[in-house]
Amino acid sequence: MTVTPSTWSPRSWRDLTALQQPQWPDGAAVDAAVERLKASPPLVFAGEARALRDQLAKVIDGRAFLLQAGDCVESFNELSTMRIREKLKIMLQMSAVLTYGATLPVVKVGRIAGQFTKPRSEPFERIGDEEIPSFRGHMIHDDARTAEARVPDPRRMVEGYNQSASTLNLLRAFTKGGYADLTQVHLWNKDFVSSSPEGRRYDQLAGEIERALAFMAACGIDLVSERRLHEVDVYTSHEGLLLEYEEGLTRQDSITGDWYDCSAHLLWIGERTRQLDGAHVEFFSGVHNPIGVKIGPTATPADVVELAERLNPLRVPGRLTYYARMGAEHVRELLPPLLRAVRDEGHPVLWASDPMHGNGIRTATGVKTRRFDAIMAELDGFFNACWEVGVWPGGVHLEFTGEDVTECLGGADDVLEEHLASRYETLLDPRLNARQSLDLAFRLAELMRAPR
Ligand code: PEP
Ligand code: CO
Repeated sequence: MTVTPSTWSPRSWRDLTALQQPQWPDGAAVDAAVERLKASPPLVFAGEARALRDQLAKVIDGRAFLLQAGDCVESFNELSTMRIREKLKIMLQMSAVLTYGATLPVVKVGRIAGQFTKPRSEPFERIGDEEIPSFRGHMIHDDARTAEARVPDPRRMVEGYNQSASTLNLLRAFTKGGYADLTQVHLWNKDFVSSSPEGRRYDQLAGEIERALAFMAACGIDLVSERRLHEVDVYTSHEGLLLEYEEGLTRQDSITGDWYDCSAHLLWIGERTRQLDGAHVEFFSGVHNPIGVKIGPTATPADVVELAERLNPLRVPGRLTYYARMGAEHVRELLPPLLRAVRDEGHPVLWASDPMHGNGIRTATGVKTRRFDAIMAELDGFFNACWEVGVWPGGVHLEFTGEDVTECLGGADDVLEEHLASRYETLLDPRLNARQSLDLAFRLAELMRAPR
């Protein structure tokens, strides 16, 4: 239960300013694509979105932790079973580390099956003497560095829907069909990870989990029939940026009559599109999914309270998540006033940390990267700010990949500047590789165990 304003409809955002939208060259083709989406089956169901909301409500109470992670932006060229499995594997590994290390359930949400658009700070990029539109994701245009490739094509929204459907189908099979079974805990460790110090540490933890399971079995507990040991719930999420796509997948739930954006379980509003009078806030105020908002360093206490009033007027726990992305140097100073303002107004908000987007840097040669140490420093600042105010540090929002890439600097792996070029594969922002992600999970478990 949330509330849909009486003036709201899936199209009401169209009367307001929508930032970060493509300049489609052909309006009729956009309408045709939206009609195709409207006639297509939903990707997720309202009941699943409600189940996630209930899980997130538990997080707000300090009874669980949110792990949200995935690619910066998914690619149309990378729909491979292997890549999706690798992403799931590292998510399961991190989740095992956090659940076992901090003895808390972990709510797992992928940036997956729909993360095909990106907001950009600069509308154009320079290629030699030419200026071409910046890359905004495969649901809009191709990434090739030519002006022709960057012409927006609305048929890509339908292609994005189709790729999301295939991804989700595979994800459902992996999570419910035995692969995520806790008895497989050892098998999630991958070759290039298992030989590393964090991989060995993980193997030890997996051994402890197996012994605990064997102990319970020896006590006569029927582990075979305990569904929760054999299946996991992995929910989907993406930035709700391209409003025509989101409108096209919005459906009225047959059980409650409420509107849901059935493109993903959770949608978030980005730092660049969270204006109170903007089209994105209007659109997401009317759908009943769990909604996130990125909160950057310019946000004021009044902003975060007004956003909560607008997006969650009935104060439903689990409806609203804020991702603080302040930058490692500022989080300790900027976050506590925001935490206090929301708490003092009595708004149930899940506070999570996005330690990635406030910590981007460029190397001397112009390569976009992030330092593992800065990411950890922001997480540390986030936890301390939360402890100070007495708010539960509810989760993390990360950009990672299951591959052995070299995009972020440092970590136990110690990726150096001269390594960046060797396997830099992201379409946009640098992601943590599998070893760095596992390393982060171990450190996070320690932060969570710190005196509360
Ligand atoms: C993102 O999450 O990929 C993103 C662009 O974040 P932000 O809106 O916080 O900059
Ligand atoms: Co990003």
